[in-house]
Amino acid sequence: MKILHKIQQLRFAIWMLFMVSAALSCDRCLHKSKVASDARANINGACGYGTSATSLTTRGGLVTASASAKIYREGVGCGACYQIRCTDPGVCSKSGVKVLVTDFTKNTQTDFVLSARSFSRLAVPSKAAQFLKMGTVDVDYKRIPCEYGGQNMTVKVDKSSKYPDYLAVQFLYQGGQTDITAVEVDQVGSSGWQYMTRNQGAIWGMQNPPRGYLSFRLLVTGGYDGSWVWPRRNLLPSIWTPGSVYESGIQITEIAQEGCSPCETGNWTDTYVN
Ligand SMILES: *[C@@H]1O[C@H](CO)[C@@H](O)[C@H](O)[C@H]1NC(C)=O
Ligand SMILES: *[C@@H]1O[C@H](CO)[C@@H](O)[C@H](O)[C@H]1NC(C)=O
Repeated sequence: MKILHKIQQLRFAIWMLFMVSAALSCDRCLHKSKVASDARANINGACGYGTSATSLTTRGGLVTASASAKIYREGVGCGACYQIRCTDPGVCSKSGVKVLVTDFTKNTQTDFVLSARSFSRLAVPSKAAQFLKMGTVDVDYKRIPCEYGGQNMTVKVDKSSKYPDYLAVQFLYQGGQTDITAVEVDQVGSSGWQYMTRNQGAIWGMQNPPRGYLSFRLLVTGGYDGSWVWPRRNLLPSIWTPGSVYESGIQITEIAQEGCSPCETGNWTDTYVN
């Protein structure tokens, strides 16, 4: 019996090895899906960026998008960037649009919902008006690094915070192509990291935060990689203010790997200026 069990284990291990080598480790993979337009799409989405979303999209050359459960991942997907283009060669632009996930959509037929204006940018300019009438289209999409042109990541003390009993933060201008999957906070000079909990979307909160200057560390993972990033040591002053934004002194540039075969290496660029 024992030997049989061992053989089964060995078989399983070999099968796993085969499965892992069958999928290449890639900077990006091509995904096929659908995208819908919704006139009501608004920027004050489930991620909780609120009016900050406008600065993020302007800086990053992005538009906001509502994402399906698969992309939104209960808030883990907030702040991720994707490039989306539709597939009809006579109508669609090659570059499509670059989006920032700021909201969740209950729509189960599509992976992204865009505002009408952003949706129309999937088409070449001369076809935009008639394209808009289609409502839902087939698309290719890929995850891309978020790039904010020299802007470091910042931490915003969320308006739901109440000094000194309750601290909630969100990280803005999250660069690179990873997910923030854990956030810990420590009083500068002490050595006890305490974890924060993802409240909603991109907002992390904790009751009774440590006093004094605060440091943070963030676990960023995506695909096969993971690492801690350490913003500036005294990130928050001892008296922090709800609504204030503090400079982190760092930017995330890592690109986490995902598995597919073949890897997506295409250059989605138009020859005209959109
Ligand atoms: C970003 O952080 C670096 C290192 O801490 C700093 O030298 C630089 O001035 C910061 N950039 C901006 C735009 O604040
Ligand atoms: C993509 O193509 C455009 C125009 O054809 C070119 O300017 C750009 O450098 C290319 N980018 C990459 C990453 O190859």
